[in-house]
Formats: sequence, C-alpha cells, structure tokens
Amino acid sequence: MAESINVQGNTRKDKYESLLPQIKALTEGETDAIANLSNIFSALKYGMGFFWAGIYFVKNDELVLGPFQGPVACTRIKKGKGVCGSAWEKKQVIIVPDVDRFPGHIACSSLSKSEIVLPCFKKGEIIAVVDVDSDKPGDFDETDRRYLAEVVTLIENII
Ligand code: SME
Repeated sequence: MAESINVQGNTRKDKYESLLPQIKALTEGETDAIANLSNIFSALKYGMGFFWAGIYFVKNDELVLGPFQGPVACTRIKKGKGVCGSAWEKKQVIIVPDVDRFPGHIACSSLSKSEIVLPCFKKGEIIAVVDVDSDKPGDFDETDRRYLAEVVTLIENII
C-alpha cells in the first residue's frame, strides 16, 4: 500500500482526481474493513483539508459512530435526527451549506459550518452513512457529491 498521501491540484475536482487513485491503492491488498475505513477517512480529511470525515453504521434503530478522523463526535444518532439520521430516513444524499439553518442539526463541534452526508447501500438497504464536515460555510456542491459517491462505492465493497 501507499505510505503517504500527496494531493495535487488547485480545484476541488483536481484534488479528488488526484486523491481517488491513492485511496484505491491504500485499500488494495488489505481485507480488514476497519483498517481500510480508518485510512480512507484519514486520506479524505487530510488530503482534502476537511474538518471531519467518518462513517456511522446502522445498528437496529440508530446510527453508531464508526472509524473517523477529526474531533470527537456524538456516538449515536436516531433515525430522522440530524443530517445523518435524515439522510438515512430519506435514503438520499444531503448537502447542508449552513448547518445553523438545518433544523435539528446535531452540532458535534461549533467549528463545523457545512456538511455532506451520503448513504451506503448493501442489497438495497442502507447499512451506513458517510459524513464529511467542513469548517467553511457552503463548502460542498455537486463535485463533492460526484467524487464522494465514488468513495462510497469503494466503502460499500469493503463493509
Ligand atoms: N452533524 C451531524 C452529526 C455528526 S457530526 O457532524 C460528526 C448530524 O447532524 O447528523
């Protein structure tokens, strides 16, 4: 596996295109899901300069925190609650440009300003959600949706 991440490019798109092959290389040849998820979220947070990047797993009627990189986060989120619980309930990607304007947003850190949450599916069911936070308002758009969907596909194949 690669031993370090080196992201090139000036635009968000260029950075993702530089990072994604490195994320694939990082996880190739390793079968352990926790090891791979931990490296994926480190690569995302530090490679892209995000504030927080991680995963919550569906366990019974709630989401439970899994591997992540960034400040400590709330461990359990009920279906329909916050951005993560809403993405689970609605079965769709949610982009929140201003977390203070999202009703019910769960603030794990007051430094987080915008957020994107993407569901992970297995056999048609949501088994987890990927959450990425930024300390800048309005930091996520369709470019993030597109490239993070590729990360989610990778994750769906390792969990
Ligand atoms: N803000 C999320 C909670 C998770 S933290 O951001 C890591 C939410 O509203 O679901």
